[in-house]
Amino acid sequence: MKIVTIGSFKGGTGKTTIAAVLGTALTLRGLKVRVIELEIQTKPLARYQASREFADLDGPKIVDLNVSGGTPDVKDWQMTFSNTKAQAERDKIDVLIIDTSSVWKPEVIAAHLMADLVITTVTESPIDLYQIMPTDGPSMQAVRPYAQLIDLVRRHAEKAERTNFDWFLCLNRKSHLITRVGERVRDRLTEFTDESGIQLVEGLVDRVGYRNMMDTGVTPMDDIAGKPVQRSQIAARTEVNRLASRVVARLGLKVDADQLERV
Ligand SMILES: Nc1ncnc2c1ncn2[C@@H]1O[C@H](COP(=O)(O)OP(=O)(O)OP(=O)(O)O)[C@@H](O)[C@H]1O
Ligand SMILES: [Mg+2]
Repeated sequence: MKIVTIGSFKGGTGKTTIAAVLGTALTLRGLKVRVIELEIQTKPLARYQASREFADLDGPKIVDLNVSGGTPDVKDWQMTFSNTKAQAERDKIDVLIIDTSSVWKPEVIAAHLMADLVITTVTESPIDLYQIMPTDGPSMQAVRPYAQLIDLVRRHAEKAERTNFDWFLCLNRKSHLITRVGERVRDRLTEFTDESGIQLVEGLVDRVGYRNMMDTGVTPMDDIAGKPVQRSQIAARTEVNRLASRVVARLGLKVDADQLERV
């Protein structure tokens, strides 16, 4: 069983959307996927699951996780995740996806420490860039040095003998426009990923179709029988499949060849 942690210390970069769409794309490949929801106030993933079940659509199983009582620290959360992992292994889950929040909370750090693969979502904006890289800008200092987090998590994986550990920096919610700001951010992120030895990968384009996905449960992979598939849906499906295939290859997962015909 493999653990994928979706993180970013900037809100609204598309973590939850990626957790839902990736979880669904992997499920459609015949893998058994469970997604841990830490946003227990609003439960966007639970809503997503409910909508898909309503329409008899396949998808990952969502579970929420909370540690009750006291003020749990990173170690408490690591213990909780270890139990969750053991349970998932007993249930023959192939992939456990943990969707985190954009706050440096103990559970978010612990989720990074558990991962076989971390996916950090970033958009092509300077604000996102400054969450990742140190900057000389006066008002947009990086909250924490991201390179240090990568180093910490990587050493942790090494100690736990997770030898295939990897990290994707996922360019997400990409604009259709080619802009100078976007190009500059991309150049700086390329430098950063080269220096840190992590992978820069393409995520999802900014599309209207993703905006209400958590509520409707409808993803680009869902056909409606008898209705023609639109071009933008094919493009969206291609970007989801590209990300899912990278994850499958990186984690060495075995997909069902018959199921793969359907995606
Ligand atoms: N590729 C996309 N195209 C268009 N809208 C998107 C895309 N990805 C996410 N969104 C929208 O952007 C908003 C934020 O997305 P999402 O909730 O997935 O981000 P998040 O990183 O999980 O946010 P938070 O930090 O609050 O948990 C949502 O309204 C979502 O519908
Ligand atoms: Mg979220």
